[in-house]
Amino acid sequence: MPGTELFGSEERKEINDVLETGMLFRYNHDQQRNGIWKAREFETEVKKITGANYALAVSNGSAAIAIALASAGIGAGDEVICPPFTFIASIEAVLFVGAKPVFAEIDETLCLSAEGIRKVLTPKTKGICLVHMCGTMAEMDGIMEVVKEHNLILVEDAGQAFGASYKGTSVGLFGKSGSFSFDFFKIATAGEGGVFITNDESTYILADAYSDHGHSHVGNNRGMEPHPVLGFNYRISELHAAVGLAQTRKVPHIREVNRKYKKMFIDILSKTEGISFARLADPAGDSATFLNLLLPDTETAKRTVDELNKAGIGGFNYWYTNMYHFINQWDHLKKLNTVSKLPVEVLGVPQDYLNLDLPKSQEVIGRLISFGIRCTWTEEDVTALANNIAACARKAMPVMA
Ligand SMILES: Cc1ncc(COP(=O)(O)O)c(C=O)c1O
Repeated sequence: MPGTELFGSEERKEINDVLETGMLFRYNHDQQRNGIWKAREFETEVKKITGANYALAVSNGSAAIAIALASAGIGAGDEVICPPFTFIASIEAVLFVGAKPVFAEIDETLCLSAEGIRKVLTPKTKGICLVHMCGTMAEMDGIMEVVKEHNLILVEDAGQAFGASYKGTSVGLFGKSGSFSFDFFKIATAGEGGVFITNDESTYILADAYSDHGHSHVGNNRGMEPHPVLGFNYRISELHAAVGLAQTRKVPHIREVNRKYKKMFIDILSKTEGISFARLADPAGDSATFLNLLLPDTETAKRTVDELNKAGIGGFNYWYTNMYHFINQWDHLKKLNTVSKLPVEVLGVPQDYLNLDLPKSQEVIGRLISFGIRCTWTEEDVTALANNIAACARKAMPVMA
């Protein structure tokens, strides 16, 4: 994964700054910290990349979604439209704030489609938890139309899409707020970390309080200031923020290299009949952390996965391999084994999760094979790998009569 590939002296320098002072806590202790404020610097760097007015670094991407939902006013009993293809954290966060996930169809962008959203709207729909999957972005023009028409609250989980944008605007800035993950597997990592972004001051103030037991942090005097709400501990440590800071500075470089390599993959692979690619709603805004192939049908995709495994190449097929990102693998959700253990009579789940019918999503995920793109590959590596993937796919293609 890109961030971890480039772990080096820059990360060590930022970590050492913190270790020199011993001040691992992000708030207060002005004298002891000797001017070292890594969480603040990390947030500034994320604002530079996204153009957001406000950024808040927290303990992980899951926490960032939870505070995004809570600060948007989404809570008990609200219906929130979610995709059936995401990392489970997005759904857990919706349940965590007491809201009810309602699943809608995705399309070839790998994200919720406006058409899918429209089909599951009810008078109780409060918002959408849109997830920008596999380094790319949803078709925002259509989605914003539905949001505005129905006065919905949009929260964007861009856990996998830091550095991506749509028509010049960073993902995470289309609705109330957005969240990024900086866990070990992302374009930039803090070890564990997440960042919440918004352009709205009052949303930021609430999210900030929710992330730290309700502390409002007014006047840099944590402890003695007002506490407007109850929250939880989602704080990031200075050590994690130090790593996130060094890594975030590398994102423009990683993105440039990965875009070049993704184009090379597409140029080579598109010569093989039957291979197509997940639709990029804005090709210029791709973070290019993943190459997302679509095979003609699920059977061919399965045979291609087998060929790729035989060749030692791998690749993610979220349907056949237990990647835990598609609803067909979420038995715990279907049984409502949640933290709160709320039974269905209390939660009042608005859909029959056991018998959900999402044919379009199944078709797309069944055909999808994704590959992480590494920025430390050489052009020769990319050419060889692309040719090997094409050869595996050709072996798996149905024989024409
Ligand atoms: C789309 C998405 N959202 C949220 C998360 C959760 O992030 P974290 O692992 O930092 O809690 C992930 C992590 O993989 C993710 O892929």
